[in-house]
Amino acid sequence: MAFPKTFLWGASTSAYQVEGAATEDGKGLSQQDIINQENFTKRGFATAEVTSDHYHHYEEDVKLMAEMGFTTYRFSISWSRLFPEGVGEPNAAGVAFYHRLIDALKANGIEPIVTLYHYDLPWALVEKYGGWLNRQVVTDFEAYARFVIKEYGSDVIYWTTINEQSIIVQYWTQKCYIPDKYQSQDQLRFQINHYMNLAHAIACNLVHDLVPEGKVGAAIGYAPIYPLTSAPADQLAALNANDLRNWYYLDIYFKGIYNEGALRYLKTHGLAPDITPGDMALIKSGTSDFLALNYYASECAKACPDDSKMSIQFSGVNWSGKKGAISGYETHPGYFQLCKNPSLDTTDWDWAIDPDGMEYLLRDIYTRYNKPLMITENGIGAFDTLTTDRRIHDNYRIDYLREHIRAVGQAIDAGVPVLAYCPWSAIDLLSTSNGVKKRYGFIYVDRTDSDPRQAERIRKDSFYWYQKVISSNGTDLN
Ligand code: BG6
Repeated sequence: MAFPKTFLWGASTSAYQVEGAATEDGKGLSQQDIINQENFTKRGFATAEVTSDHYHHYEEDVKLMAEMGFTTYRFSISWSRLFPEGVGEPNAAGVAFYHRLIDALKANGIEPIVTLYHYDLPWALVEKYGGWLNRQVVTDFEAYARFVIKEYGSDVIYWTTINEQSIIVQYWTQKCYIPDKYQSQDQLRFQINHYMNLAHAIACNLVHDLVPEGKVGAAIGYAPIYPLTSAPADQLAALNANDLRNWYYLDIYFKGIYNEGALRYLKTHGLAPDITPGDMALIKSGTSDFLALNYYASECAKACPDDSKMSIQFSGVNWSGKKGAISGYETHPGYFQLCKNPSLDTTDWDWAIDPDGMEYLLRDIYTRYNKPLMITENGIGAFDTLTTDRRIHDNYRIDYLREHIRAVGQAIDAGVPVLAYCPWSAIDLLSTSNGVKKRYGFIYVDRTDSDPRQAERIRKDSFYWYQKVISSNGTDLN
């Protein structure tokens, strides 16, 4: 197993999940401040107000990353920290924060991978025109992206555009603020995705125009989908599921077209996006240099009868962390239905644990599109325990990551150019769906959902393990 010498090792976070300081130094609210305020009231999950308080601890955090041996760090920029109203004059204190962060990373030999947008649209734009529901957002995103790419472009080579369009379609009310009256209108999920495709293409073009050595790609939430059985009907169901959940996105990024099979399905059910003349030409012009992959779990599909008593459903959620409490599986009568994979164990939140899926998807995607790939998320959400001697023995995390890194190595051995491995997450942070008690980090943050305490940092066992992995360039996984 040979990771190339230039391979980048690090981890990821996103702005609203890690920074805190949600209203400090001139930052405007984002839609996640509002969504997570509701989560707190409804489910007792922490708000986005303090999270891991990285805004105040960033120097300490970068030092810890350097101690682990990181050569890269993927983070996102908060649009509403730079532009509190979404548009207009930039907020100098916000601009300065990301300069300080990038400078600290570079001083420690850590290459930044910057995500332009990770679920946190400025709330002002939601109030003004409905946010992602309105095409105006594409124009405002362009102005924001142009500013960011110009401002930080001399220090940042690697850019990812919009985090996980596929997941936004599935879980749209957690990722976008959608007023109740629109929540039954599923076509809007695909309309939002279309606007994001335009924004993505614009961002690709901006990086290519403004950053001489710049490389850009989307960060997609990706799950390979296997058929439940070898019955041809299940095989076809898995093909349909891959069309709609995977190729529908990747064909846009690499071919500039909507996947025909998926688009026909959406048209038949009144779900297809409205496309304005010129949109597809713009999408085609925005070429990607690589694809960033967020991989946690594979999916499984079976044939689904075309039964008029069934209706289209999108993915369910496990809110509690009790295995089996997932509220449902994506269903498209006559097309496919997702289901539990009987061959795989799951996390406490019902996400299938599938390291082979990592090798499978890297090889499959590379064969289809022949572009370099990077892993920008991968990891296990777990309830960690802080012992009385203030240690965290997270062997389950080490086991999960070890097998997934092994699978990345096997894909590299099979000829796939993988540029980086950035698991989720560098440090504990606010989960998008389950508060702070669902932890992912190498660095423990001592806080609870209801009490941010001092957000003290503590190295987990996985911290020391990953340090060894990095220093051996992936050869020592024990
Ligand atoms: C990815 C997101 O979907 O999964 C992250 O890009 C997110 O923002 C991660 O935190 C894990 O999901 P969750 O819901 O467990 O936080």
